[in-house]
Parts: sequence; C-alpha cells; structure tokens
Amino acid sequence: MNVLKTSQSLFLAYMAKELPQEKPNQLYEPLRYIMELGGKRIRPLLALWACEASGQESEKALPVALAVEAFHNFSLIHDDIMDDAPLRRGQATVHEKWDANTGILSGDVLLVCAYQYLEAYEGEVFKQLTKTFSETARWVCEGQQMDMNFPKQEIVLLPDYIEMIRKKTAVLLGSSLKMGAIAGGLSLAKSQLFFDFGENLGIAFQLQDDYLDAFGNPETFGKQVGGDIIENKKTYLFLHALEHLQGAQQEALVAYFTSHPKDTAAKVNAVKDLFDQAAAPNAIKAEMEVYLARAFKALKGLHLSEAHEELFTDLAYYLIQRDV
Ligand code: IPE
Ligand code: IPE
Ligand code: MG
Ligand code: MG
Ligand code: MG
Repeated sequence: MNVLKTSQSLFLAYMAKELPQEKPNQLYEPLRYIMELGGKRIRPLLALWACEASGQESEKALPVALAVEAFHNFSLIHDDIMDDAPLRRGQATVHEKWDANTGILSGDVLLVCAYQYLEAYEGEVFKQLTKTFSETARWVCEGQQMDMNFPKQEIVLLPDYIEMIRKKTAVLLGSSLKMGAIAGGLSLAKSQLFFDFGENLGIAFQLQDDYLDAFGNPETFGKQVGGDIIENKKTYLFLHALEHLQGAQQEALVAYFTSHPKDTAAKVNAVKDLFDQAAAPNAIKAEMEVYLARAFKALKGLHLSEAHEELFTDLAYYLIQRDV
C-alpha cells in the first residue's frame, strides 16, 4: 500500500530524532536495534490517521505514535523471551543476539521511554492519554499471562481464546486509534468508537498472525514458522481441530500438544496435517471475517469522510490478507 509508505516516512523521521542515544550502550543498543528492525508500523499509522480523521494534522499524534510503537516493541522483546523465539522480522531476536538479561532490561527501559514520549502532551489530553495507555498495558500483560497459561491448562474454550487475543493484541490496536483521536482533540466518547473499530480489527489481526505462524512462508514470514505448535500454543487452529477431529487423529493432536519432542520439524508437519484435515485454515478465515464485519460496523458508526473511511477499510483488508 502506497499510503502506508507516506505516513511511515513521517513517523520514521520523528522516531530517528527521538530514540535514546544515552549510555550505557548495552542498555540502549538493543532498544534501537528492535525499534529500527522495521515491521509494519501499523500502530503508529493507526494513531496518525485517527488524529487526522479527527480534524487535526497527523503531526500532532507523532508522540502517541512513537509511544505505542515503543510499547509494542517492548512487548515483543519480552514476548520473544517468553516464546523462546529465535527470529523477529527476519533477524535474530534481542535475547538471541545478546542474552535474556539484556532483553529484560532493554525491554523495561523501552516501556519507560514509551511513557516519556507522552510527556509531549499537557493537561486533560495528557491525563486521558496516560490513563488509556496504562489501562491498555495492564490488559496486554493479562492477555500474555493467559497465553502462557493455556499450554498447561487442560480445558481452553473458544471464548477464552478470543478473550486472550483481545487482551494481548487487539486492545493495543484499539488504543492506538483512540489515543491518536484524543491527541486530535476528539471527545473521549467518540474516541471510544475508534477503539471499538481497532479492537475488532485487532482480533482478526491476531487470528491472521496465528494462521501465518503455522502456514506462513518461511522465506518471507520473518518469524520461525511453527513456533506456536512447538510451544503448544492453544490457538484457534488447535481449538478448531480438537473439536472437529475424532478418534486416533484427535488423540494424536492431544499427544503432540502435551509434549515437547526433540524433532520439532516432524511435530510441526504432523500437526499442520491434522489442522488441514480438520479444515482449520478455512475455519480461521471464516472467524476473521466475523470480526472484520464487526470492525466495519464500528467504522461506519464513526461517520468519517469517504476518503478516511476508505483508508481504514483498505488497511483492514491489507491486515487480514498480509503474509508478514
Ligand atoms: C506482532 O505484531 C505481534 C502481534 C501482536 C501479533 P506485528 O505483526 O504488528 O509486528 P511488526 O511490528 O509488524 O513486526
Ligand atoms: C504477541 O503474540 C502479543 C504480544 C507481544 C503482546 P505472539 O506471541 O503471537 O506474537 P508473535 O507471533 O511472536 O509476533
Ligand atoms: Mg511470540
Ligand atoms: Mg507470545
Ligand atoms: Mg504469533
């Protein structure tokens, strides 16, 4: 998407000015490494566009954009330690390139930086932004803990899974929009409508993330394909397959998801076969459509200009069709 690139260059120029350059290097270099590693920059984009759609120059939301991207990258450094992930955006994860302690502390300081970026605002706007940000940060931690609990939790139902991805992922997309709108001077009540759009879009977005984790192309995906299967993550693919397989196939699936075999490639291939036999890829796509429709309903309720509505609609389609 071309428009994606235009807003990105505004954000990247701002980020280059604002990233910490202090010492010690051992603390700040990993922070700059992850922030400069690329990625889709979806959350900053959402913040900038929501601000603009609220009637202000998108520049007004640059500190919000940087805060949400910093928070996102902090969560990824820690998430990669927790998920034992070797690859991020096609490069070594922070804990692989340095070590886990480096990842913990540089992640922590990145979270603090995220809050400091919000100091660019004052008064009621500052208060509303930090309140929204803190509430969101707590939800993300709660979602991450649920994600960590599920592999050992015997019974995980679909609503549990949706609640988990809503918290670990969707609320940050929602809050990126909401905070961008607040920075753009929109009332709290109306900003909440932006949140509703982003939250539903975020659920569809994480469903696609889970799909790609199993069925993505290793050449282009940028993360280790099969990582969720190796870690026994109870994603939508697993929950659907468990419900729709029977007999020996169902038993095999359960056996794979209660063990950590040495031959991870064999496990990943066998589990993907079981997912296919249960038609889990089709089912996850259908589930994504449900949340996409809810997102579009919320978007309509915002009564944006035609041009802005189209922008958000195109972005939503891009996000659920993406292959990275
Ligand atoms: C990855 O987010 C983590 C999830 C919440 C799924 P993105 O897919 O937005 O990651 P980058 O920033 O583009 O690399
Ligand atoms: C990550 O979920 C959510 C957060 C970082 C809070 P995942 O663990 O699925 O994200 P990826 O796949 O590693 O990017
Ligand atoms: Mg992960
Ligand atoms: Mg994770
Ligand atoms: Mg994932």
